[in-house]
Amino acid sequence: MVCHLRDVPVAATGATSINVSHLGVQYRTVEALRDVSFAVKSGRLTGIIGPNGAGKSTLMKAMLGLIPAAAGSVLYNERPLMEQRELVAYVPQRSQIDWTYPATVWDAVMMGRVKKTGWFRRFSNVSRRVAADAIERVGMSAYRDRPIGQLSGGQQQRVFLARAIAQQAEIFCFDEPFAGIDQKTQSIIFDIFHELADANKTVLVVNHDLGESITHFDDLILLNTDLIASGSRQEVLSQENLYRAYGGKVAFFAA
Ligand SMILES: Nc1ncnc2c1ncn2[C@@H]1O[C@H](COP(=O)(O)OP(=O)(O)OP(=O)(O)O)[C@@H](O)[C@H]1O
Ligand SMILES: [Mg+2]
Repeated sequence: MVCHLRDVPVAATGATSINVSHLGVQYRTVEALRDVSFAVKSGRLTGIIGPNGAGKSTLMKAMLGLIPAAAGSVLYNERPLMEQRELVAYVPQRSQIDWTYPATVWDAVMMGRVKKTGWFRRFSNVSRRVAADAIERVGMSAYRDRPIGQLSGGQQQRVFLARAIAQQAEIFCFDEPFAGIDQKTQSIIFDIFHELADANKTVLVVNHDLGESITHFDDLILLNTDLIASGSRQEVLSQENLYRAYGGKVAFFAA
């Protein structure tokens, strides 16, 4: 029997990757990203770091086709990622979420099932089970019927993580999930990120903090409009790279 490589499920072929080539993004008067190229591997926890205004959120949005790129390409398994958006779970930076939206925890997580089932079909028992398990996994079962606007920042972040899990995506993109949340919630979220990576998912996280939390990441992408460095955490966090990205403004990091 002849077995073609493309017939083999992704998980069986080992790591897959997102390949970003020569990506450029221009807002009207601001060049936000310039000629950025790197690869993101599945099975690794990858962080995007860089100073305020470096283009971290822009990079994530442009990779997913949520804003137009002026140049370049983003491929996943050698096909444009934006044509495979059903494989992606994306949680934007907190400031971009409408917290007045009248949804409960349960509603918000069930929204993750919409891509699987369609809006107009009734949710199946399987979907309900998947959503309930995801809420349980992030420790939010007691809050199922609470409106999301009445949760703390860390609880909200956990609900969005549950939605991403319920979506059963291959690629998980989180923009600053740790901003303003406590240590305990941060470690619950990191545990889940590691589990997803261990299950050979692609996990990409914008992270502001260069302190202890950085040690959780396997790989890093360091940006400041231009790509400064990408690769393993140890390679990227060199004094020279940090100086090029942050100037003299970085006082502490743990490599
Ligand atoms: N919608 C927009 N229109 C015009 N300029 C924008 C827009 N969004 C972002 N910018 C600019 O593009 C640059 C990159 O912004 P971006 O939000 O991607 O940075 P960031 O690294 O995510 O910053 P932060 O750490 O503050 O979240 C900044 O100079 C910003 O002012
Ligand atoms: Mg940002």
